[in-house]
Formats: sequence, C-alpha cells, structure tokens
Amino acid sequence: MVEIKNIVMIGAGLMGHNAAQIFLMAGYNVTLVDIKDEFVNAGVAKIDEGLKKLEAKGKLGEGTSAASLMGNLKKSIDLASAVKDADFVVEAVVEKMDVKKQVFKTCDENAPPHCILATNTSTMSITEIASATKREDKVIGMHFFNPPILMRLVEIIAGEKSSDESMDTGVEIGKGLPCLKGKRFVPKVLKDRPGFIVNRLNAPVQIYLNWVFDQAAEKGIPWEQIDADAAGLMPMGPCELGDYVGLDTMFHVGNYYAETLSPDFKPGKVITKMVEENKLGRKSPQGFFDWSAGRPKIDKSKKAGLFSVQNSMAIMLNEGCRLLEEKVVTGFKVIDDANMAGMNTPGPFGGGKNQYENWSKLLNELADKTGKEYLRPCELMKSGGFVSMRK
Ligand code: NAI
Repeated sequence: MVEIKNIVMIGAGLMGHNAAQIFLMAGYNVTLVDIKDEFVNAGVAKIDEGLKKLEAKGKLGEGTSAASLMGNLKKSIDLASAVKDADFVVEAVVEKMDVKKQVFKTCDENAPPHCILATNTSTMSITEIASATKREDKVIGMHFFNPPILMRLVEIIAGEKSSDESMDTGVEIGKGLPCLKGKRFVPKVLKDRPGFIVNRLNAPVQIYLNWVFDQAAEKGIPWEQIDADAAGLMPMGPCELGDYVGLDTMFHVGNYYAETLSPDFKPGKVITKMVEENKLGRKSPQGFFDWSAGRPKIDKSKKAGLFSVQNSMAIMLNEGCRLLEEKVVTGFKVIDDANMAGMNTPGPFGGGKNQYENWSKLLNELADKTGKEYLRPCELMKSGGFVSMRK
C-alpha cells in the first residue's frame, strides 16, 4: 500500500471544507480546490475558524495548533496542477454527473498513477463516475455524513471495478480521521446500489410517511397529532423532522428512489403541494409548522393513532434484508452499526431479530392498506434467514 501524505479535496462547500478540516487534523497535507477564489477562500476561512474553536477548547491534541495545521493547507482553483502530487483525492462538488465526470477525467489525466480518486456523492453511481477515468480500479466512494466532524460514519463504496487495495486504503484513511463524537465506523459497501447503506435503509420509511401525510390531509387530522403519535419514541415527530430536513430534500430524494428503486417512492400529494407553494420547512420558514420564531412549540396532547414507529422499524428491517439479499453487505451487524454512526438511532435488526414474523404481518397489512407493493416483506425477512447472517 502506498503511503498517503497529500490529499486533495475538491469542492470547498458544506461537505468539502469540513472534510478538508478533518484530513488536516489527521496530519495530512491538504489542498482545497474550488472553481472561484471566493469559494475556496470562504472554505479556508471556515476551516481556520473551526480549528481555532477546537484549539480554544483544547481539542487539537498536544503540540498541535490551529496555525500549524493551517500551514499544511494549500488552496487552488486549478485542479490539473493541484493534483500533480496527490496520493488521494476526494471529490465533493455539486451533485451533477457531468460535472463529476469532468472532474474525474481531469484528475485521471493529471494525478500520479498511484493516486486513488474518491467521490463523496450521495446518489450517483461510483461505477459511472469511474468510467470517466482510465483507472477504474482506483476509483471508490467515500461517503461522509453531515457534518463529517461530528458524524462517525464514513461509507467506503466499491464500484464494479474498484480494487481491494483501493477499498482497503479508503477504509484505513477513514478510520484514521478524527471525529468529535467518538470512534469512526468505516464499513465497506460491497455493491454500488442506490443509497449505499444508511440512506437506503431509511429511504422507504418515506413511502409510509407520504401515505400518513396524505391520509391526515384527507381526514382533516392536524399535523401535531401525527407528531404526538411518535412522542417519547422519536426526538422529533415525522412532521417536525420533515420540516427540519427540508421538504424539498424529501421531495427530491423521493423522486430519485422512484427512478432507481420503485415508483412507489414518488412523493405524495401533501409534500408535492408544499414544495410547489415553496413551503420547505425550517428554512422557508413555513412547512408543516411555522419556524419564524425558531423551533415550533407542538401540542402533543392528542394522538392521531395514524403513525406507528413500529411500522417504520419493520420497513427498515425489510430494507436491511434487501441490502443483504443484494449483497451490499454480508451481515446485519454492520447495518445496525452504520445506522447508529450515521443517524444516531438504532438500526432495525436488534429488535427485528425476534420480531420478524409479526413485522412481516404488519408489512403485508400496510401494503394492502396503502397500495404500495414495495412495502411487502422480502423473502429474507419473512423466512428470518437474516438471523444467521450476523457478520
Ligand atoms: P455545496 O453546494 O455546499 O458545495 C459544492 C462546492 O463544489 C461548491 O463550493 C462549488 O463551487 C464547488 N464546485 C462546483 N463545481 C466544481 C468543480 N468543477 N470543481 C471544483 N469545485 C466545484 O454542496 P455539498 O452539500 O458540500 O455537497 C457536495 C457533495 O457531497 C455532493 O456530491 C453531495 O451529494 C455530497 N453530500 C452532501 C451531503 C450533505 O448533507 N450536504 C451529505 C453527504 C454527501
């Protein structure tokens, strides 16, 4: 394995600047690249601010200062020259295939032959991005969660042609990165499938939520009663959480999985209408609730009896079993651990090991009620065959 010293981070936005900061903290020389000086400078300023805050709290470690780490940071708006001495490149530019392919082509043509090229894409095929290069064995996914410095999970994803060595290097680098919330969890994602592990595991819950929202609208049930159904079981109910994440994000994610996994993911009437009316949740600041005075105060005294957290867990168990069926991972422990590291919530297998028969029944009832066939339990869930697939 080649020794990795020089890392190039492409894209100085939300994810790129924060990932660049943790690469610096891990001791690498880092070059931050963007398309305009103002973008790259904004990223550098945020890294400087982030490091100084950690220094003030004594969190940079003995003998390390913000200034000394900043001394290991270079910036560039010329990708071709920035990657000349790179050992490892991570791309976090806009989520557009043509832009990513162009970036990977430039890297391939200018980086040394040993250099591994990683993408932080959330939704795009690693295999397709790799096809823009002549080193497909050295292209992998390196998927951080937002913000990388706080979220322990980094998924390392294999494209069809990624070599074991490139994957191992990705895992080794990921494991060495500092995280303010504990030990990194860096699973290998063995197949390039939509959503990788954690986003995929949670995605089909949206099918159910869209149905709940549409039912509530039809029956005139107030949103706070839906959130009351989840009180004590989730830190935020489904409506508040939707507002918090952004209803436009839910809408786009739904459409993405509708294209890649099943038409059942198509966003429902309520979400579609809210997005059309520019009610996007916290940021707009209207959604299910009014966020103009900060986090809304939600009256949870009356329950709707419509939303069930248990149904959500059953849906996740089913999707986790599909990940096993598709050989994205080989055992369920990695799925539960990844969910904890990426979402701060337990995965479905801990409870599902003993509940799969009941939960399969629940899912069949739910599929009948909603007309969403995707919610039906897969073979591996129904049979309980996953129980012996721990590792
Ligand atoms: P962002 O919009 O904050 O940053 C993207 C940056 O890339 C911008 O500064 C832009 O100027 C720059 N850029 C665009 N074209 C470029 C090019 N040709 N060369 C160099 N820089 C270029 O986006 P964000 O949120 O940081 O996302 C970046 C990537 O990370 C996307 O692929 C996204 O799917 C992925 N991601 C995002 C997460 C999130 O929560 N925002 C979580 C995990 C992955």
